[in-house]
Amino acid sequence: MAWRKVARFDALRDGGVTGVEVEGVPVALFRMGEAVHATHGICTHALAFLKDGYVEDGTIECPLHQGVFDIRTGRALCAPLTKDLATYAARVEAGEVFVDLE
Ligand code: FES
Repeated sequence: MAWRKVARFDALRDGGVTGVEVEGVPVALFRMGEAVHATHGICTHALAFLKDGYVEDGTIECPLHQGVFDIRTGRALCAPLTKDLATYAARVEAGEVFVDLE
């Protein structure tokens, strides 16, 4: 495991999405209460940043063509998506968010 400190937990809006870059990789962070989930930051359909998307009921809707992914699993839930989103391990410790890209 290679944990990288990527954000302060209190900088993440509960129920929202925040974009960060980890070792050159765009990552989307999702705060759900006290938990944080992390996915790749770019939609698998085309070049759209999920940080600009819309979070609802544990899903993220892409801002470009409204494809929807499950935040926890990365599963593509509807057209035009055909490919799931990569997910990454995330944890919170001492007020900091850590992500492991491996
Ligand atoms: Fe995300 Fe098309 S770019 S659904």
